[in-house]
Amino acid sequence: MTQLTIPRPDDWHLHLRDGAMLEGIAPESARHFARAIIMPNLVPPVVTGAQAAAYRDRIRAVTGDGFTPLMTLYLTEDTDPADVVAAHRDGIITAVKLYPAGATTNSASGVRDFDRVRPVLEAMADAGIPLCCHGEVTDADIDIFDREAVFIDRVLDPIRRKTPGLRVVMEHITTADAVAYVQSQSQDLGATITTHHLVINRNHILVGGIKPHYYCLPVAKRESHRLALVQAATSGDARFFLGTDSAPHSDDAKENACGCAGCFTATNTMSILAHVFEAAGALDKLDAFASRNGPGFYRLPVNEGTLTLEKFDTPVAYPAKIDTGAGPVTVFDPGFPLHWRVV
Ligand code: NCD
Ligand code: ZN
Repeated sequence: MTQLTIPRPDDWHLHLRDGAMLEGIAPESARHFARAIIMPNLVPPVVTGAQAAAYRDRIRAVTGDGFTPLMTLYLTEDTDPADVVAAHRDGIITAVKLYPAGATTNSASGVRDFDRVRPVLEAMADAGIPLCCHGEVTDADIDIFDREAVFIDRVLDPIRRKTPGLRVVMEHITTADAVAYVQSQSQDLGATITTHHLVINRNHILVGGIKPHYYCLPVAKRESHRLALVQAATSGDARFFLGTDSAPHSDDAKENACGCAGCFTATNTMSILAHVFEAAGALDKLDAFASRNGPGFYRLPVNEGTLTLEKFDTPVAYPAKIDTGAGPVTVFDPGFPLHWRVV
């Protein structure tokens, strides 16, 4: 097969930032994706419906009409259930994002005591509003490579048991444990998988010198976990869908003694995915993962437009960096030549 046409894909987990960074990188996503779930971890975070509406308008001012930002609210211990329900009813937000406090970039206002957000979670279950979870505990005594698996047992499973009907997306899963947990549950639980976690394991970050552009959170795990993610993504199982977690930081913030977490994959994600799915013998499942399963979970229509990928004999070139008014942003390097290109 040298050409593949799929319904236009969506990105169910995306960081677009704000200001000059937003202006520089949003077109990279809008070029291929019709819709994206927009992460609210700005500084300060997007916590009210009014802030989400204003942020949505700033995004639209950059991308124009061809791209629909699906907004989220950043859940804090002070979030007002009525504001969440109203913002959803008015079509301003699609989901609510749970960051355990301190888990990742700009998560200081996240949740410490999960009992304090019970009223919000119950209102969300009643109104059918999905909860997107950054699935890592932050306890100092839990090894960073174990934080996702421990989150499932200590936080996610108890929350879901206490809140029947709450629809949850476990975001950017990185472990075989998360794959197995999602597979063992009902359709009320979905999971996003990033492009980069289908490609790198922890050796890519650390062997032969530290590679800051491969550092993200949750951090990539050992190879057996990557293989479990590839298996889940390419299986066609409706509970697994694409959330790139494309998370731009300027090069000076990444190439730093305390480098920021985040991989920027918006530019070449579809080419990388075509490569990964072809290598797995599952090109016919790319449309499920990138274009159908996400809308299925979010109860939205599949996009009417299409996207065509073509395979070239010689490698296709992508820019190494995107220049933005907030500094250059390095594009994720999969470490192998790419032959698929969006036409
Ligand atoms: C994200 C960011 O930079 O905002 N970083 C990352 O490594 N994924 C935050 C997040 O999604 O955890
Ligand atoms: Zn993210």
